[in-house]
Amino acid sequence: MDLNALISSRSSVINGSGIRRVFDEAARTPGAIKLFIGQPDFPVDGAIKNAAVAAIMDAEGKNLNGYTLTQGNADLLAAVRKHVAWDIGWTIDDTTTDALVTSGTSGALFLAAMALLNPGDEFIIPDPWFVLYPYLAHLCGAKAVACDTYPDFRMTAERVEKLITARTKAVLVCSPGNPSGVVLTQREQRDLLELCRRKNVLLISDEIYDEFGFSESMTAGRAADASVPACPSAAREPGSHDATLVIRGFGKTYGVTGWRLGYVVGPKAIVHEMRKLQQYVYVCAPAPLQAGAIAAFGVDMTAHIAEYQRRRDVVMRTLGEVTEVAMPGGAFYAFVKVPERLKMTGEEFYQRAKQDKVFIVPGRTFSSRDTHFRLSFAARPDDLSRGLEILAGIMRG
Ligand SMILES: Cc1ncc(COP(=O)(O)O)c(C=O)c1O
Repeated sequence: MDLNALISSRSSVINGSGIRRVFDEAARTPGAIKLFIGQPDFPVDGAIKNAAVAAIMDAEGKNLNGYTLTQGNADLLAAVRKHVAWDIGWTIDDTTTDALVTSGTSGALFLAAMALLNPGDEFIIPDPWFVLYPYLAHLCGAKAVACDTYPDFRMTAERVEKLITARTKAVLVCSPGNPSGVVLTQREQRDLLELCRRKNVLLISDEIYDEFGFSESMTAGRAADASVPACPSAAREPGSHDATLVIRGFGKTYGVTGWRLGYVVGPKAIVHEMRKLQQYVYVCAPAPLQAGAIAAFGVDMTAHIAEYQRRRDVVMRTLGEVTEVAMPGGAFYAFVKVPERLKMTGEEFYQRAKQDKVFIVPGRTFSSRDTHFRLSFAARPDDLSRGLEILAGIMRG
């Protein structure tokens, strides 16, 4: 039987993630220095784990191992609403705005694309992008329009405006960004929001790294408590709730990427469509883990974020001397330029670094160009310093 003849073109044109290839190659290399992994390296807080275990063991007799409502565990939704009110000042009133717990941030992004995009529609994404972004449009028969943000990786209104056409449905912004860690300013976020409003286009804000902001890139603070630093966001602008879809995750923030939990808040008309679609796609996010995540908003991540900022500084000190690196203002990535005098692509640099057992991700995995590589500093500190020295050595030639 010719099974290949049965595969849809929707699926067959999709390449496996380039990050997965690096994973496999590193796994086959004894002593590999892994600077490619996009997940936190700190332990999960005990309160979160205990809450999930108690849910699985049915400690309170609530049957938290069954389905939840499609929109999510009622207590978790209440915690999300409370957090969003405190953080960005939005009141989720169920009339104009709504909230939905999703199966990962990826799940939320996929449902948003499904809810918004018709075949032929256009969807503006940053270049460099997170690996899923171009496929979101493709899977809906729509077109991803890449906004070139080189060399500073800032997706500004000026850069986006030139790309908006009558077919544009949404602009997807990611700050702090993957793969660059670059954080937009509040002014840049405001300008993007105003542009989207003016053009009647939805602004989708992927804020999966929202809690990982480094001191110098923060705005004044949260809506309800200006003393607590916060990453700039279009959602912090007054009245933003009717034009912005905010997508966030629990996985990166609390080190539970395998739990597959995210949430979305935004205009009810859109969130309602996403909820309808979730019924038939994921049904609901993993139930006992939703119960575990209720404890998450109370966990203080300050020390972990300070540690990532310290490592970011080590990256900038070591590589900033030998090449161009746009300053990561958050997350745990840097998108590093391969020095032009080496006359190497990102892929060639990857192959060269691999000879010295250092594993990074070539830029072409995230971009239409192949001039950079992504380095993750969510790595063991001794691996990070050894790996950085090796990379800097290769760059010095
Ligand atoms: C920018 C960005 N958005 C979304 C995701 C997907 O996250 P999740 O594991 O919650 O699906 C990632 C994961 O790396 C990411 O970097």
